[in-house]
Amino acid sequence: MHNKKEEILEKQKKYLWPNHLLYYTEPLPLDYGDGMYVWDVEGKKYLDFFGGILTTSVGHNRPEVIDAVKAQAEKLIHSSTLYPNEAHVNLAEKMAEIAPGRLQVSYFTPSGTDADETAVFLAQTYTGRQEIVALRHGYSGRSAIGMALTAQAPWRIGGTHIAGIKHALNPYCYRCPLKMTYPGCGVACAQDVEDTIKTTTSGKIAAFIAEPIQGVGGFITPPPEYFKIVQEIVRNFGGLFIADEVQTGFGRTGDKWFGIEHWDVEPDIMTMAKSIANGFPLANTITRPDIAESTRHAGLTISTFGGNPVSCAASSAAIGVLEKEADPQHVARVGKILRNGLERLQEQYAVIGDVRGMGLMQGLELVKDRQSKEPSPDATKQLFEATRELGLLIGKGGLYGNVIRISPPMTAREDDVHLALELLGKAFGRMG
Ligand SMILES: Cc1ncc(COP(=O)(O)O)c(C=O)c1O
Repeated sequence: MHNKKEEILEKQKKYLWPNHLLYYTEPLPLDYGDGMYVWDVEGKKYLDFFGGILTTSVGHNRPEVIDAVKAQAEKLIHSSTLYPNEAHVNLAEKMAEIAPGRLQVSYFTPSGTDADETAVFLAQTYTGRQEIVALRHGYSGRSAIGMALTAQAPWRIGGTHIAGIKHALNPYCYRCPLKMTYPGCGVACAQDVEDTIKTTTSGKIAAFIAEPIQGVGGFITPPPEYFKIVQEIVRNFGGLFIADEVQTGFGRTGDKWFGIEHWDVEPDIMTMAKSIANGFPLANTITRPDIAESTRHAGLTISTFGGNPVSCAASSAAIGVLEKEADPQHVARVGKILRNGLERLQEQYAVIGDVRGMGLMQGLELVKDRQSKEPSPDATKQLFEATRELGLLIGKGGLYGNVIRISPPMTAREDDVHLALELLGKAFGRMG
């Protein structure tokens, strides 16, 4: 007779594709959650500092979200985008309120991949052009175009045949692709966007797409001047600027609702997902009314699950909680405590080569030694097993699989952060 854990792991192996990426040497089946915590099927409790990939924005089983979902499910679960519904339009109104500048009109879909595809299609429709420039180490999803935009070999398992997508150097200061040092470099990497347009495209691009902080790439955070320089280059070549806020949206980076606002530029299109609805499948592509207008006579499109009323109700409720108790100022405050603690760990443990990120989106790049900066995916694996034992969930990323990603629900309080830091410190200690 198998226990519940063995039964789940056996069915996972037998009935799900083997390419489902699972964390930990022995995968961890989760059972239920409450606030900052989740429990596995054997009753062990974990402090959740990854939030299901930056998605559980206001904590597990948050009552306001559950109530909104229950009320909407009892009224209408599904309508498709063929019929207007109240939850859908109310959420669109809210998005226009919190999105920066002239970004006012939304198209909701079920996933971040959909949102990025929708942004590319919109830019192509508006400009009448096809070519897109993205950044190396970026991640855009798992559709064919998503994988073609993505620029990390392990995630490009399809889509690489799609023409018209080029990749410029990314602003990866810790491992500068130009072997220069900030600020003496004058942000030379930004200039590569122009060189890429001039040498690998027709010179007439539809758009440039980038994450304000590269998430899957390992929380790579561009210097403050970067996006202003790049936006001007992209404009000069007649392209639109798509900011992919799938990870950085909804206050995650602190102080601002959306990450790109830290760089003081207004994108033409913004995509968002993950934190949008505390775990319900939902994404959005928001733009200026004049750009959206170009789609009016472009042909037919629907999204069966786009703007799903239950997901929209969950999103409105989650944003309400964020506004009430975990707004961007709260995230900045708690994020600073987290950052300071991580920098103290860096002073103690030579394996931590770099600490980077913003707000409650903080990364640790682990290296064999600080001189060579050689990536240490082994250290990442060890830290993963140690934190699991100690009851702390964290994430990982980076082209070399050596970046620890820390991104708790934004409702995290000081105490939660102190506890996570204590557990992380213990885990580094166990690694020797
Ligand atoms: C920046 C970014 N864009 C797009 C996506 C794709 O989102 P989804 O997994 O919801 O399709 C992700 C997912 O991790 C992401 O991090």
